Amino acid sequence: LIINNRCILLCDSCWLWWHSVHLIPVSTANKNGVSSKSRKRIMPDPVTEPPVTDPVYEALLYCNIPSVAERSMEGHAPHHFKLVSVNVFIRHGDRYPLYVIPKTKRPEIDCTLVANRKPYHPKLEAFVSHMSKGSGTSFESPLNSLPLYPNHPLCEMGELTQTGVVQHLQNGQLLRDIYLKKHKLLPNDWSTDQLYLETTGKSRTLQSGLALLYGFLPDFDWKKIYFRHQPSALFCSGNCYCPVRNQYLEKEQRRQYLLRLKNSQLERTYGEMAKIVDVPTRQLRAANPVDSMLCHFCHNVSFPCTRNGCIGMEHFKVIKTHQIEDERERREKKLYLGYSLLGAHPILNQTVNRLQRAAEGRKEEIFALYSAHDVTLSPVLSALGLSEARFPRFAARLIFELWQDREKPSEHSVRILYNGVDVTFHTSFCQDHHKRSPKPMCPLENLVRFVKRDMFVALGSSSTNYYDACHREGF
Ligand SMILES: *[C@@H]1O[C@H](CO)[C@@H](O)[C@H](O)[C@H]1NC(C)=O
Ligand SMILES: *[C@@H]1O[C@H](CO)[C@@H](O)[C@H](O)[C@H]1NC(C)=O
Repeated sequence: LIINNRCILLCDSCWLWWHSVHLIPVSTANKNGVSSKSRKRIMPDPVTEPPVTDPVYEALLYCNIPSVAERSMEGHAPHHFKLVSVNVFIRHGDRYPLYVIPKTKRPEIDCTLVANRKPYHPKLEAFVSHMSKGSGTSFESPLNSLPLYPNHPLCEMGELTQTGVVQHLQNGQLLRDIYLKKHKLLPNDWSTDQLYLETTGKSRTLQSGLALLYGFLPDFDWKKIYFRHQPSALFCSGNCYCPVRNQYLEKEQRRQYLLRLKNSQLERTYGEMAKIVDVPTRQLRAANPVDSMLCHFCHNVSFPCTRNGCIGMEHFKVIKTHQIEDERERREKKLYLGYSLLGAHPILNQTVNRLQRAAEGRKEEIFALYSAHDVTLSPVLSALGLSEARFPRFAARLIFELWQDREKPSEHSVRILYNGVDVTFHTSFCQDHHKRSPKPMCPLENLVRFVKRDMFVALGSSSTNYYDACHREGF
C-alpha cells in the first residue's frame, strides 16, 4: 500500500487515498447565543444536496459532467476595486483510467473529438483545427513531444476525453467573460510575458491547459504561448527535497492503511470483486479498481462482468463511502495537513511572489495558469485551511485574484475561489478577518504573512522557514 515517492511525483492516481474532502454544514452559535445560519458550503448546491453523505451523489460531483452554465463568484468586488492579477490552478479534465481491472475488458471510450457526440462545446471544432496547427516552439522540452489534443478511438490509459476538453473550454470561456470582457485584465495587444503557463509532462494536463486557454484568450496566437514544464506534481521546482514532508506522508499512509483494515465491509467487497474477476484480493486492490469504476460511472458504461458475475453499484458504493470516511479521518488526524503545508509551500511562495510583483505595478505574468493534478490541488487546499473543500473533481479550478483599491492605490486584496465559490473567508489566513477589520476584502498582507511565516507556525514547530521545517530533527 505504501506509495513510493515516485508515485507522488509522477501520477495522480493516489487520489484513492486522498479522496473527496467533504464539506459538512456547521451550525454555529454567535455571541448572543443565537444560532446563526449554516456556514456557506463549498460548492454543493443547497437545493439538491441530500442531507446525509450519499456516495452516488458525491461521485456525480466528482465527474463534473458538463451541463448548463454554472453560477460562479469569480470577479466580484466592490466597484472601487480594480482587478490586477489572476492565478489559476486547475486539475486536468475527465480522463480515461490509469489502471485496468484485471481480467476484464476495459471500458470502450472514444477519445477522438467529435462534434455530434455529447458533451459538445461550440468551440470544439475550432479548437481541434487550431491545435492541429500547433507550434513546437510554444513548449519547453519535453512537452513538445506530446499530442495537443486527445485522438485515440479507444482511449489510451490516462488520456483526456472529449468530456475533459469540454470541461476546460467551458472553464476558459467563463473566465474570459469575467476577467477579459468585464474586467479587462489583459490589454488587447497582450504579449507573451503577461502570461505565465506551467504544466506537468502528461498529455492530459497540457491538453487541459490548452483547452482552457483556447476558451479564455480572444486570439490564441501560437507565437504568444509558452508552456513551461514542471516535473513534480507538487510544482516544487528546485525545492522538492523535504524529508519531514515525506515523514508526514508515511504516517498519513499508515493511518489510511489502518482505517481500511478496520472496515470489514470494504474487505468483504474487495473479496467479492476479486472472486468475480478471479484474481487474489491483494492483486485486485493493488489495481485500484475504483479509478476504473469511476470511469464507468462518469461515462454511464455498465461495470464489467465475467462468467462469475458482475461488478455492481453495491461494490462501488461501499468503496466510495469508505473514501468519504477516509477523508473525514484524514481531516481529524492532521497528518495530511503537515504534509500539505510543506508540500504546498513552494508553489504558494511562488504565487505570493508573483502577486507582490503585480501589486508593485509590474505588468508581467498578470495571468498565471498551472495545469495540474488532484495531488497538486489537494495539498494547496489543505494548506490554505480549506479542509472542508471537496476533493478536486475533474477540471476543478482554484483561483487567486488580486485587487487594487482605487481609493487607496497602495492597498491590495486577495480573493480565493474554488470551483466558482468564494472561499476567501474560509482560509486560515482570513477567516477571522470580519471580526477584526471593517474592510470588505482580505488584505494581500494576510496571505503573504501566512505563506512566508505562519504556515510553519501552523506545523507546530519552532521553524520559521521552509528549509528548517523540512529538516527538523526528531520529528
Ligand atoms: C445511461 O445508460 C442507460 C442504459 O444504457 C440509459 O437508459 C440512460 O438513459 C443513460 N443515462 C444517461 C444520463 O445518459
Ligand atoms: C520563496 O520566495 C523567495 C523570494 O521571495 C525565494 O528567495 C525563496 O527561495 C522561495 N522559497 C521556496 C522554498 O520556494
